[in-house]
Amino acid sequence: MPKFRRAGLFRLAVLVIPALLMSPLTGRAQRLPTESSGAMVASASRLASEAGLEILRRGGNAVDASIATGLALTVTYPRAGNIGGGGFMVIRHADGRAIVIDFRERAPSGATPDMYLDASGTVVPGRSTHGYLAAGVPGTIAGFALALEKHGSGKVSWAEVVEPARRLAAEGFPMTQGLARDLRGSERLLASFPESRRVFLRNGALPKVGERWVQADLGQTFARLQKEGPREFYEGETARLIAEDMARHGGLITSADLRAYRALERPVLRGTYRGHEILTMPPPSSGGIALLQMLAMLEPHDVASLGHNSAAKIHLFAEVMRRAFRDRAEFLGDPDFVTVPTAGLIDPAYARGLMTSFSPERATPSEGLSAGRPAGLVATSPPTGHPASPPAGSAETTHYSVIDAAGNAVSTTYTLNGLFGNGVTVTGTGFLLNNEMDDFTSKVGVKNMFGLLQGPANAIAPGKRPLSSMTPTIVVKDNKPFVITGSPGGPTIINTTLLIITHVIDHGMSATQAVDAPRFHHQWMPDSIDCEPFLTSRDTQRLLESKGHRLTNRKLYPNDPEAAARSWGDGETILIDPQTGRRLGANDLRSPDSAAIGY
Ligand code: DON
Repeated sequence: MPKFRRAGLFRLAVLVIPALLMSPLTGRAQRLPTESSGAMVASASRLASEAGLEILRRGGNAVDASIATGLALTVTYPRAGNIGGGGFMVIRHADGRAIVIDFRERAPSGATPDMYLDASGTVVPGRSTHGYLAAGVPGTIAGFALALEKHGSGKVSWAEVVEPARRLAAEGFPMTQGLARDLRGSERLLASFPESRRVFLRNGALPKVGERWVQADLGQTFARLQKEGPREFYEGETARLIAEDMARHGGLITSADLRAYRALERPVLRGTYRGHEILTMPPPSSGGIALLQMLAMLEPHDVASLGHNSAAKIHLFAEVMRRAFRDRAEFLGDPDFVTVPTAGLIDPAYARGLMTSFSPERATPSEGLSAGRPAGLVATSPPTGHPASPPAGSAETTHYSVIDAAGNAVSTTYTLNGLFGNGVTVTGTGFLLNNEMDDFTSKVGVKNMFGLLQGPANAIAPGKRPLSSMTPTIVVKDNKPFVITGSPGGPTIINTTLLIITHVIDHGMSATQAVDAPRFHHQWMPDSIDCEPFLTSRDTQRLLESKGHRLTNRKLYPNDPEAAARSWGDGETILIDPQTGRRLGANDLRSPDSAAIGY
């Protein structure tokens, strides 16, 4: 071979081989999505994904399967999977009909705007996050029952969708690495409530990974629900156990509150992005509005040509995030209690107006951001801005995605709010309660546990639903489902969902590339970009700093065994290949027990 050709080949090899061996995104080898031609379930727990598939194999549709997966997560992923909390389900039927099921918790009738303040008007630390007073009236069972009744296939019964969860609880399953780690990590919280100590810590005798983990009380609760039907939770023995426990421990939830709880159907929130239709969550989540606002702000920009994780791109996204989170704090709350100017906020013309203050060269300081915003949307009392601490990073909510062979798609995010919720296991039931009341504004200008500043629109009132960030979303292309996604992570949920969607649409990433890519987050206050490990090179960081950004990096230590824990979100995602219709699932490796499986 002539010398010059050998040299050319050598140069080519030097350039190409490392590129093939290393992911351009993470420095790791690439992994492929799970593939199937029919159904797929992606969730934080393999056993819960299997529960969904079991129902699909029996002839159930994606809604039936989502209920089975959700109930099973209560058993296998109790840090977030729940029947003592609430959430949202976005459903798109194969024929194009789309709807949202809102099963968000509601404030008990005894709740008051200042219930978390002391006599001097100061927020009492822990009161909205730990113990009985922190719980809202749970909505999960009502939401699942409504979804089954209105959108299920009609081929599987309530008792059948409950069965995999009952079986997992009563017969047990081998303790997983993720659950063992979660229980150990939350020992202090769980030990502070005797019933949680007994049920979840086995009074100090925690099983080892691989040992059988049986939850007898929870199995009984599911058996009652199977036998008596879903209203049992709100009117039967389970309701009695909740109300009695509350009364014994100074909690507010009464039998009447439980009896009055209803899940709701709401119209899905719709937007578009570069020719795709976005179906997402309306208020009482802020997630859908913020997501559509951000997409509308991005659309005039050629994101693809900025390049993945270039300084210019991270700058643009941080500015877009900052503006959406500013509006979140000002305008959003439960639409059944306050007027939320949804149409105005998601109007692309409004979004473009928000970006008139954008400079490609300089960060816009969060303080005073409202100055110069377009007229027309005026809140009566904007929240006061204080720098807050960065958001908590772990996954204390859970998201899962389901598609069936017919093309019905379901995107569900539900939560206990904090890790293992408020720490309280309702005596005799085996399930934990949420601490969703912390998602309300305890006091204007005082951050909540996610560092969020909230406004008067989200003040506490009896029966009201606290403002959420959960963003279960379905992207539609050419009238067919294209991406089913969402995430846990408090306020980071909205930005994680944005990143996954834009990674696919703008950068052409596969499902796994989009989920694996390191994330970043800006939430207006604090005025900083929170970065997952390995997001950018140091020189990219310097470029961002030179534009005026403050970057916060989760600290990594040499050979850090907890490196994964310094990341956030759990974007259990399914992408449907528009050409072949194949389902391409991406579980999120940040969540150790997660699995995307199909057939
Ligand atoms: O609804 C919300 O926005 C919060 N309760 C979600 C909490 C959450 O994602 C915690 N996970 N890190």
